[in-house]
Amino acid sequence: MRAARPTARKALLAALAGERQARPPIWLMRQAGRYLPEYRELRSKAATFLDFCYDPTLAVEATLQPIRRFGFDAAILFSDILVLPDALGQRVGFESGDGPRLDPIGDAAGLSRLRGEPDWNRLAAVFEALDRLKTALPSEVALIGFCGAPWTVASYMIAGRGTPDQAPARLLAYRSPDLFQALVDRLVDASAEYLSRQLAAGAEAVQIFDSWAGVLSPAEFERWCVAPIAALTAKVRAKAPNAPIIAFPRGAGSQLAKFAALADIDAIGLDTAAEPKAAMAALPGRLALQGNLDPLALVAGGPRLDEEVERIVAAFAPRTHIFNLGHGILPLTPVENVARLVALVRGETSR
Ligand code: CP3
Repeated sequence: MRAARPTARKALLAALAGERQARPPIWLMRQAGRYLPEYRELRSKAATFLDFCYDPTLAVEATLQPIRRFGFDAAILFSDILVLPDALGQRVGFESGDGPRLDPIGDAAGLSRLRGEPDWNRLAAVFEALDRLKTALPSEVALIGFCGAPWTVASYMIAGRGTPDQAPARLLAYRSPDLFQALVDRLVDASAEYLSRQLAAGAEAVQIFDSWAGVLSPAEFERWCVAPIAALTAKVRAKAPNAPIIAFPRGAGSQLAKFAALADIDAIGLDTAAEPKAAMAALPGRLALQGNLDPLALVAGGPRLDEEVERIVAAFAPRTHIFNLGHGILPLTPVENVARLVALVRGETSR
């Protein structure tokens, strides 16, 4: 009897199922965006960044642009983590070149002005974009949906903008833990339902971005990073038991093991500072490890980029690895460096 032919499977989904591959699949956080000239051109078709996100035609096109150019193994839906506060009724805007601005929530009255549940009509374009992407993407490319983690999203909702050390949110969490917990609980419920709906609309995996997890003290990390993500993943699993979930607790450092023990995930995103051997020793073998090239090495290019890519691919070879950056791609990244990165990871070029 002949052995059954292995079913063709998207490389990213195989990695998320724990299959080690000769070459790691590759995609990049924030792979759509301002470093691409075709994105900057497309972006001028909408007045505001949120208008852009809420136009399914533009969102689909922005999602596809990096796939066409580089043939990544996964496409991440073009949107933003701050559409959720927007759908919860908080005023959200983006100043051009200056980041997000929200009406800050500072007290119980601010929290009470939020909706109990997101306005799903406001997010209809997100689900429509995912539905269209199912057929628009090449068959070997996986489709990733995402949301921000409760802590990271709350940090913007409370400060009303990006802050260097998330001090406003950390202060509120110390001073008014019950209020902060109520906000986080709201975000856990809304985010779980949001991810479940993205999966139903066509996302094949989801990533939870906790970009600011690294500023929390150990006790606060457990309470505001680990516990909400554990609750969120449990709720997503209750509806979609087999959905692949990636978490990116950026800056978790020595707390990676604790995170992985409590949150039910399939892959963990490692930031630039994570040392591969230490991370592999800390994290259970069933987890796929995603990361962790320094976005600045990709800006720099040249022989140091080649060396860093080789070092990372070799270091994670004993485990299931998904090649990615240690944080999002930077707007000043030369496109030719991204093309070289993909070729290097795939072994299609040599140094
Ligand atoms: O990965 C992708 O290509 C999909 C799109 C995506 C965006 N934001 C588009 C975007 C994703 C996954 C995000 C996630 C996001 N948004 C995070 C978590 C990841 C991370 O980088 O830490 C955070 C913290 C945000 C919040 C946010 N959105 C900020 C702070 C800013 C302004 C600063 C910046 O990076 O530009 C945004 C705006 C934003 N989100 C832009 C893009 C392409 C730029 C706005 C524009 O093009 O006009």
